[in-house]
Amino acid sequence: MANISVSTSDKGRATGTKGDTVLAVKDLAVGFPTDDGLVNAVRGVSYELRRGQSLGIVGESGSGKSVTSMAIMGLLPKTAQITGSAKLEGEELLGLGDAELSRIRGKKISMIFQDPLTSLNPVYTVGYQLAEAIRTHYSDISKSEARARCIDLLDSVGIPNPQQRVDAYPHELSGGMRQRVVIAIAMANNPDVIIADEPTTALDVTVQAQVLEALEKAREEVNAALILITHDLGVIAGHTDEVLVMYAGRPVEHGSVDEIFYQPRMPYTLGLIGSLPRMDESRDQRLTPIHGTPPSMLNLAPGCPFRARCPMHQDICAEVEPDLLPINGSGHVAACHFSDQLEGKAPDDVFAPVATDLSVEAEVEAMDAEGAAAADEEDK
Ligand SMILES: Nc1ncnc2c1ncn2[C@@H]1O[C@H](COP(=O)(O)OP(=O)(O)OP(=O)(O)O)[C@@H](O)[C@H]1O
Ligand code: SF4
Ligand SMILES: [Mg+2]
Repeated sequence: MANISVSTSDKGRATGTKGDTVLAVKDLAVGFPTDDGLVNAVRGVSYELRRGQSLGIVGESGSGKSVTSMAIMGLLPKTAQITGSAKLEGEELLGLGDAELSRIRGKKISMIFQDPLTSLNPVYTVGYQLAEAIRTHYSDISKSEARARCIDLLDSVGIPNPQQRVDAYPHELSGGMRQRVVIAIAMANNPDVIIADEPTTALDVTVQAQVLEALEKAREEVNAALILITHDLGVIAGHTDEVLVMYAGRPVEHGSVDEIFYQPRMPYTLGLIGSLPRMDESRDQRLTPIHGTPPSMLNLAPGCPFRARCPMHQDICAEVEPDLLPINGSGHVAACHFSDQLEGKAPDDVFAPVATDLSVEAEVEAMDAEGAAAADEEDK
C-alpha cells in the first residue's frame, strides 16, 4: 500500500459532506520519490461530486489528472506519498487496505481507461467478462440471470445484436465497441462514481462521440457521478456539468461548463479554448496556441507555474503562486493574480492568434470523410 497520511481535520467523520455528495476530495497531494528528488505530481486537489453530476478534468499531459484518480482508487505504487482526503459517501478511501479497496472498486467506483484492450482479457468472451464483474460482487446470481443482465448491459451501451455479441471475443469487436463493453462492465454493479480516464483518445472522431454518448447514457441509467478526464477541452463540451482545469498538479480553474467556456478567468483556460479548432470562422482558421511546455514537477520554482508561458505575467507572478479564489462570489474559482482583468476577454486578447491556410470548409470536408469512414468501420 502507498505511503498515506489522511487529513486529520475531518478524519473518520462525515462532516463537510452534503446530503447528496458522493465523492468529496480535499487537499489531495501526491509525491513520488525518485533518484532526482520528489516529483510533486499532485499539489492540492479539492472537489465535491454529487450523485448524477458529471465533472470534466482537463489539462495537458503530466498535469496530474490520472494520478489524482489513481490515488482515489488506491492504484498508486507503494512508494507514492499521499496526503489529504477522499471520501466516498463519507467513508475515507485513502489508507484503506487492499481487501477494503477491492470491495469498493468496481462496485462503488468504476474506472474506465484509454485503451479497452488493456481492460479486456483476449481469451474470454465479453459476456464471460461482464458476468465475472457482476459475480465478483453478487456471488449468488444464477448463470441465466447473469447472462440476461449482460445482454441488458450491452444493449444499454448501444451494442447492436447484444444476444450474439455477448458471445464475441474482444478481437471480434471494433475499438469503439470494445470501449462500450468496458463501459458496460463499469456500470455492471450500479457504481456511485464512474471515472473515465481519456476514454475516447484512442478512437476516431465519430466513434468518440458515440462512445461519449454511451458513457453519458450509462451514467444516467445507474445515476452515478461521472469524472471524465481528458487533455482535450473539446471533448468536455456537452458532456459534463462542471470543468476542473489542472495545471502543474493543481486545479487552476473550476466552474460550470458555461463559466469555463464563456467566462474563463485564468489565462491557461483561455489558452486551451483558443487552441480549439473553430468552426465559426468563415475563412481562415485562427488558433491562439499556448507556446512552451509545462514545468517539471521536480523542484518546481516559486510563483505561478504558468508564468513562463503567460503573456500577462508580472513581477509578482515569479514570487507568489496565486490561490484558487472565487470569482463574483459564485462557485466559479480561478488561480491568477490578474483574473479580474480577464472579464470579457477572448483568447485572442491574451494570446497571439496564428492564421493557418486551412479553410473551415476544407476542415469540415476532411472531418466528414474521416467520420464517415470511421462510422462505416464501427457498424461492421
Ligand atoms: N510512478 C510514478 N513515479 C514518478 N512520477 C510519476 C509516476 N506516475 C506519474 N508520475 C508523474 O506525475 C505527473 C502527473 O502524471 P499524470 O499521469 O497524472 O499526468 P496526466 O495529467 O494524467 O497526463 P496524461 O494526459 O499524459 O495522461 C507526471 O509528471 C508524471 O511523470
Ligand atoms: S498569476 Fe501571473 S503568470 Fe499566472 S496566470 Fe496569472 S498573470 Fe499569468
Ligand atoms: Mg493521464
